[in-house]
Amino acid sequence: MANILILVGTESGNAQMVADALKPVLEGASHAVGVSDKAASAADFAGNDVLLVVCATHGSGDIPTNILPLAETLERERPDLSGHRYDLIALGDMTYQDTFCGGGKKLDKVFALCGAGRIGDRLEVDASTQPLPDEEALTWVETWKSLV
Ligand SMILES: Cc1cc2nc3c(=O)[nH]c(=O)nc-3n(C[C@H](O)[C@H](O)[C@H](O)COP(=O)(O)O)c2cc1C
Repeated sequence: MANILILVGTESGNAQMVADALKPVLEGASHAVGVSDKAASAADFAGNDVLLVVCATHGSGDIPTNILPLAETLERERPDLSGHRYDLIALGDMTYQDTFCGGGKKLDKVFALCGAGRIGDRLEVDASTQPLPDEEALTWVETWKSLV
């Protein structure tokens, strides 16, 4: 059983909706699961061995403002996250082809930079073809929950 924290980066609620949909599924697989849209440093997830980042992209490939402080702190301080494993669900829209899922991709790099180990493949959800991001995430998590 893992102690999972889902870290949400959102501007208009889709990533929060995805996190809220995944939580009971992961709990059903006997994991302990929290959800946060306020984490700002590694201290905020010290007790969680697994981090699942669910992050939208806004502006032009930008990280949502609620999770930007976390990204900036990790990049600046580079804490040792080798005791954590993580994964990432990036929400984007292919009509922004040059910056598709840019926010999630940036966060992925930051966690890798700090030594956290990725669990599986990053999921990228394209809002131009998938209006219901939670559906794709629920399919993805069926495999992921057994890798944790
Ligand atoms: C103003 C605006 C800018 C966006 N910029 C990008 C972008 O650069 N790249 C991308 O892949 N998606 C972009 N998106 C799409 C969002 O990431 C996508 O709709 C996502 O599902 C929003 O999630 P949220 O409701 O959690 O914020 C943008 C959306 C808006 C409204």
